[in-house]
Amino acid sequence: MTQNSMIRLGINIDHVATLRNARGGEHPCPIRAARIAMEAGADSITVHLREDRRHIRDGDVAKLKAEIALPLNLEMAATGEMQAIALHVKPHAVCLVPEDRRELTTEGGLNAVAMEKELAAYVEPLQNAGIRVSLFIDPDTAQVEAAKRIGAKAVELHTGCYAQATGNGKQATDLLPVIRDLSSAAQLAAQLGLEVHAGHGLNYDNVAPIAAIPEIIELNIGHFLMGEAMFVGMKEAIQKMKRLLGEVRP
Ligand code: PXP
Repeated sequence: MTQNSMIRLGINIDHVATLRNARGGEHPCPIRAARIAMEAGADSITVHLREDRRHIRDGDVAKLKAEIALPLNLEMAATGEMQAIALHVKPHAVCLVPEDRRELTTEGGLNAVAMEKELAAYVEPLQNAGIRVSLFIDPDTAQVEAAKRIGAKAVELHTGCYAQATGNGKQATDLLPVIRDLSSAAQLAAQLGLEVHAGHGLNYDNVAPIAAIPEIIELNIGHFLMGEAMFVGMKEAIQKMKRLLGEVRP
């Protein structure tokens, strides 16, 4: 993988559903958001179907699969209920994430090392059904190696620590260790034949060093872009991110 290869942008539209659910009606509609994201150049649509259905609902997932031409990436916890839904809907991809009902967002990576046996058994039927499975993990050697043994096709590296560090007014040199961890994990994953994705907390100001890691071929971004969309519209918000990615990875 060379630095000149394109990087895909997956748009997470969970927050459109959060806003819709705040009033209990149908507006704003996540399907419409996905359509606009596609027009703006998004490469895939990501949604997290949470156990408590706090934003995306089962009906949204089915409609996105049926009506939107882009690949659908379904984030979900490794539960029996979610596996059954995924096998029924058959999204292009599933990203397994840890889930805690009390958390505001996905706070850490999956512990693939501790859950190796269960996850291997869990992933197999999904991939046999043609769904590409990725594991959302922290940028850690042992986690990447476990993901490979589990049989996942991809890993999504959690950029939360990096994003937090960039938000704390730190100098570029302070970020080097965090970027080095992400870069080493990405290199190892690619060497092991895994697709490398990344995401969490990325925005216009902090995305470039992550996009510059040549092994990373997909970024999933939600919160910042949905917030930005309120001011400039979804199309413009996404197109600007695509432009920034294009500057790093023409
Ligand atoms: N990737 C995964 C696996 C996530 O759980 C999330 C948050 O839902 C994201 C990417 C996107 O993070 P953010 O909303 O901070 O851009």
